[in-house]
Amino acid sequence: GRPRDLEGRKVVVSAGGTREALDPVRFLGNRSSGLQGYALARTAVARGAEVTLVAANVSLPDPAGAKVVRVESALELREAVLTASADADAVVMAAAVADFRPAVRRESKIKKRDGEPEPIELVKNPDILAELGERRRAARQAAGVGSVPGPGASSGVGAPPYVIVGFAAETDDVLANGQAKLARKGCDLLVVNQVGEGLAFGTPDNAATVLVAGGSPVEVPRGPKEDLADTVWGLVAARLV
Ligand code: C5P
Repeated sequence: GRPRDLEGRKVVVSAGGTREALDPVRFLGNRSSGLQGYALARTAVARGAEVTLVAANVSLPDPAGAKVVRVESALELREAVLTASADADAVVMAAAVADFRPAVRRESKIKKRDGEPEPIELVKNPDILAELGERRRAARQAAGVGSVPGPGASSGVGAPPYVIVGFAAETDDVLANGQAKLARKGCDLLVVNQVGEGLAFGTPDNAATVLVAGGSPVEVPRGPKEDLADTVWGLVAARLV
């Protein structure tokens, strides 16, 4: 069985993929199924955590025992994650969040203009993961605690105490790019997915390298998404003691 190492802990997991509306019927989206995020939510419940699952456009049954908050866009996901993370011990950003959104959402359906394509202007979405790291850094600084993310994440008086976990799909220079992203976004763990070859999007299996701030990377061989989820929670729990 699983350890009950998240007993009494509050965790937030984002899952799925955001949709950025163009008009009432169209959106810009991505292929994230939500399977990995849902596996994270299920395994966290099994390890004793109180789980808030922020689900972006996922068509999977609600995991038993988790509080599910449904969102559509990156801005909605940001709102839900920041609200739920206010008193959380860990936040895991497994959702695929759109980097950009259409500058305007049209009130009525965009018309074909004599067969000419209409350009779509995009604006940047906030980077929620980086924002979580920034909030923690600021709170720790205000509390006079060291600004370096690492073990003892829950010890900062008045600081958002959460452990922060990000996901990244890297195709080349996985370790170097991953370590740079881990540092840039200020997270404790970064799960670097190997994409392609029947892995990741929409499949039950995953393979990944978990990069650890101030520690050695942990390889998770190809297997069910629950296996990767359990590895992540084990590393999270170790940083909460
Ligand atoms: O930079 P990149 O998109 O590769 O980072 C992926 C990680 O950042 C994921 O954990 C994703 O949930 C998060 N992310 C975010 N806000 C964005 C884009 C990505 O929180 N706007």
